[in-house]
Amino acid sequence: MSKRYTITAALPYTNGPIHIGHLAGVYVPADIYSRYLRLTGNDVAFICGSDEHGVPITIKAKKEGVTPQDIVDKYHAIIKKSFEEFGISFDNYSRTSAKIHHDTAQEFFKTLYNKNEFVEEVTEQLYDAEANQFLADRFVIGTCPKCGNEEAYGDQCENCGSSLNATDLINPKSAITGNVPTLKETKHWFLPLNKHEDFLREWILKGHKKDWKPNVYGQVKSWIDDGLRPRAVTRDLDWGIPVPAEGGEGKVLYVWFDAPIGYISSTKEWAAREGKNWEDYWKDENTKLVHFIGKDNIVFHCIIFPSMLKAEGSYILPENVPANEFLNLENNKLSTSKNWAVWLPDYLMDFPNQQDVLRYALTANAPETKDNDFTWKDFQARNNNELVAIFGNFINRVVVLTNKYYNGIVPTPSNYKPIDEETLATVKAYPAVISSSIERYRFREASQELINLARLGNKYLADEEPWKTIKTDEERTKTVMFVALQIASALAVLSEPFLPFTSHKLKAILCHSELDSESNWEDISTKEILLLAEHKIGKGELLFSKIEDSQIEAQLAKLEASKKANEVANKVVEPQKEEITFDDFTKLDIRVGTILEAEKMPKTKKLLVLKVDTGIDTRTIVSGIAESFKPEDVIGKRVTVLVNLAPRKLRGVESQGMILMTEDEAGNLVFVNPDKDEVSNGLTIS
Ligand code: MF3
Ligand code: ZN
Repeated sequence: MSKRYTITAALPYTNGPIHIGHLAGVYVPADIYSRYLRLTGNDVAFICGSDEHGVPITIKAKKEGVTPQDIVDKYHAIIKKSFEEFGISFDNYSRTSAKIHHDTAQEFFKTLYNKNEFVEEVTEQLYDAEANQFLADRFVIGTCPKCGNEEAYGDQCENCGSSLNATDLINPKSAITGNVPTLKETKHWFLPLNKHEDFLREWILKGHKKDWKPNVYGQVKSWIDDGLRPRAVTRDLDWGIPVPAEGGEGKVLYVWFDAPIGYISSTKEWAAREGKNWEDYWKDENTKLVHFIGKDNIVFHCIIFPSMLKAEGSYILPENVPANEFLNLENNKLSTSKNWAVWLPDYLMDFPNQQDVLRYALTANAPETKDNDFTWKDFQARNNNELVAIFGNFINRVVVLTNKYYNGIVPTPSNYKPIDEETLATVKAYPAVISSSIERYRFREASQELINLARLGNKYLADEEPWKTIKTDEERTKTVMFVALQIASALAVLSEPFLPFTSHKLKAILCHSELDSESNWEDISTKEILLLAEHKIGKGELLFSKIEDSQIEAQLAKLEASKKANEVANKVVEPQKEEITFDDFTKLDIRVGTILEAEKMPKTKKLLVLKVDTGIDTRTIVSGIAESFKPEDVIGKRVTVLVNLAPRKLRGVESQGMILMTEDEAGNLVFVNPDKDEVSNGLTIS
């Protein structure tokens, strides 16, 4: 039965482009779900937009010396375009700087205000006197009181997911000046979450019965069990939506108050454009509201936003919040600031027309129940071994043989053998199998079922060998090709949520406009035949192509380069030492020398015993360089030696001086030596 759905995908912050972590966690699963629901005849509003307020944007603007508006304009355009190119089928992509959103958010605030749903309170908040600013959210960093993470933010710890108040942080520091904040009084409006505890508990328990993911249910339950406290929904900042209340001058709505309301304003924008009634999608009990988010957003979507909706009174509550865990990249945490990511705009440039490959790789390996790792090797294998070798190969064989044997006309089958009947029956069962996985938010599993259908096709062809029977049994060959074409058309329809570009191409190859119409998912099970005999299909076109090692190496090299750049950027350069006089300096007697002999100091890891020609004499120097150099590597090396250092015994050997060394970027030891070989030993350095 057709239902109405409002599907939201977390509004991305406009402080950088989208990366694979966002895609795998939120946008790809949300898109699969929305496409599937449309195909099965439901009324779907798939809603998103840019989250343009909040401290990260202000910080980024400060760093780049531009205004916050410049930042959000830039990234909103980049993000919107890359989603479109990637085939994320939002019905509307709005932005929270839009007027309709400011109005909607202020309206929402006023309703709660008038209903006395807020607690107004003057409290002491962290303040940075030097920056002349209150420190909330990401303007303050400190130790998480729950897990001890030293880089927790003023509103949330990204390590354990706890939602925090800035004053909860241990050893707080201003992210602007690094100063230790002071406390200063200020008035704010608080949403008394404690007041909603009973309702939340009951609602979550009910949700649990409806199969919420255990990770989501578990987190929410433990927060409620910990006890909920009032939460400020306003901030002393100048970037955001002005607080529409007396005494609200100079204050804005907390970004996590306004952003989820962005789902509502984006729906309004869409409804106005499409001539629909937005309230059907937010206020009708029969509408199912589903939020797709990453796990760091759970508290906001399962506790704070539902409390807001409940307090307002006229809204429905989410039916489910299928939050995903995190995706790592090549064994390291994805990070925007460290540039440890695969950025969507880069991917679209480096792999043109291969959107489906990334969609598939991210789905097949989605972090649904635990954090997962994206590796370029796995990406390549998913493409070459599954999309090319299974799906593409099957379609290619069917299309090529149909064209070769029958000029592209679907042949008329004769008597079915049991294997044909079984195969057709199995195909008919697939929509239900895939539906069941998708409806339980198991997109990984669903994507593997799709590949299994292609596998079934390959196996059928391999067993029935039409390329052999064509020489001996024309009627049998027609039947086999007919059955294979039915599998191909089922793949064309069922692949649409996962591989929309491929599905579109395949439908074009099969010349089947009916296949392209909506709500035909069920036809596969209910219609006797999908592709009728006598129908003419088109010529083949490769659906997927092999990804070469060189392409993967190029991506890995890119990552290696950002790792290097980080190392350089993070290199701790030691501060200059205390000042000395010229006389102090002249006390050092530094000479050019040559290493004549070298051997390992027995039973040590680090020490080499060197014989060095200093020009004055030949002496023994014990040097801690054995982890970087083998003895044979250093014999003959030109060096500089501090010769008047007081001798000291190391492991019983007297060391009479010191060799000057430095380190390169990668931490390897390097000799400091004259850049001309002709400089003779014994010359002093001054
Ligand atoms: N911008 C937030 C993030 O990237 C998500 C906001 S979701 C919304 O973590 F519900 F607030 F819209
Ligand atoms: Zn923590």
